[in-house]
Amino acid sequence: MKSINMFILVFCLLTQCIAVNITRIQVPSLVETGTEFVILDCEYSTGSVSPGPGLVMKWFFNGSAGLVYQWIPPMQPQVIGLLKGKVDMGFRISDEPLQAYRAIKILKPTTDLSGNYTCVVSTFMEEDRRTKPMLVYSPGKSFHFIQEKKYVFLVTLICIAEDLYPKPVMAILSQGKPLKQAVTEIRMDSWGLYTVETRALVHDDDVTSPWEEFVCVLKLPPANYMANRTTVYFPGLMPTAYSIAAVEVEKPQERHAHRSRATAASLTSVLYLLCAYIHRIII
Ligand SMILES: *[C@@H]1O[C@H](CO)[C@@H](O)[C@H](O)[C@H]1NC(C)=O
Ligand SMILES: *[C@@H]1O[C@H](CO)[C@@H](O)[C@H](O)[C@H]1NC(C)=O
Ligand SMILES: *[C@@H]1O[C@H](CO)[C@@H](O)[C@H](O)[C@H]1NC(C)=O
Ligand SMILES: *[C@@H]1O[C@H](CO)[C@@H](O)[C@H](O)[C@H]1NC(C)=O
Repeated sequence: MKSINMFILVFCLLTQCIAVNITRIQVPSLVETGTEFVILDCEYSTGSVSPGPGLVMKWFFNGSAGLVYQWIPPMQPQVIGLLKGKVDMGFRISDEPLQAYRAIKILKPTTDLSGNYTCVVSTFMEEDRRTKPMLVYSPGKSFHFIQEKKYVFLVTLICIAEDLYPKPVMAILSQGKPLKQAVTEIRMDSWGLYTVETRALVHDDDVTSPWEEFVCVLKLPPANYMANRTTVYFPGLMPTAYSIAAVEVEKPQERHAHRSRATAASLTSVLYLLCAYIHRIII
């Protein structure tokens, strides 16, 4: 041990070893899937200005076993394991020889890249490390809230959403309160994405007004993400072979992209209201 230390000391005296301190680690804490790229940066200061030997910079994922990036100036950086094929290799964050490739530009981050990122910068003399978590969340697709009317006096409310990450939470609300009889099932597919389905059976006797609006709320708690859909139920209708599409309450930014679908949904609900009305007149 002593001789190694001695060696380092002599080596450092000869080559002007550098000290290192990480001053800032920048990792976005929340990223939505579909984002073009993210940049993980690790700013450090080196004591010596000359490009001395011995600087090693590494990025780890989920602890010290998960090396994903290594750069030993003046060589080219290497991408290892999990990040292979997902990094822009030409990306330089700085023109300084000892800083150029300290950051990682990850292209189209996916949910499996969620975890703790640790940046380790070391020289012969010291080592510094910092860790920050990144969550790549998926708000999913096909978020639907429908009614299934198979029996008189009863309706089944079904709310479904697919391709979510991390684990979702779903509830069906009646007048702002979760329905106690609702049952939620969550499945994970081979990509690690979740499908969630909540079902609730509602009896006409429990609907005290001529109609009731139910709200299905979908949440991804760690991502602070929330969305909802509503459906209006009219008690007293006869069973139908068809499920009734919910009126989709969409976010403003979604509304533009999916205008045709939203129009179709409102058309369905208008037709439905009309049917309900005719039905009442006949009875
Ligand atoms: C790093 O920080 C320590 C104290 O936190 C300081 O003694 C040292 O000089 C710093 N080194 C560099 C290279 O900035
Ligand atoms: C990530 O970091 C958090 C807090 O620092 C820790 O609780 C968790 O165990 C870490 N996860 C992994 C996989 O290292
Ligand atoms: C990394 O750690 C996070 C928790 O910090 C965990 O959710 C995730 O599944 C881990 N990823 C891998 C690939 O081990
Ligand atoms: C449903 O979402 C809208 C915005 O899209 C929001 O204004 C409303 O409060 C939400 N309702 C519930 C019950 O969370």
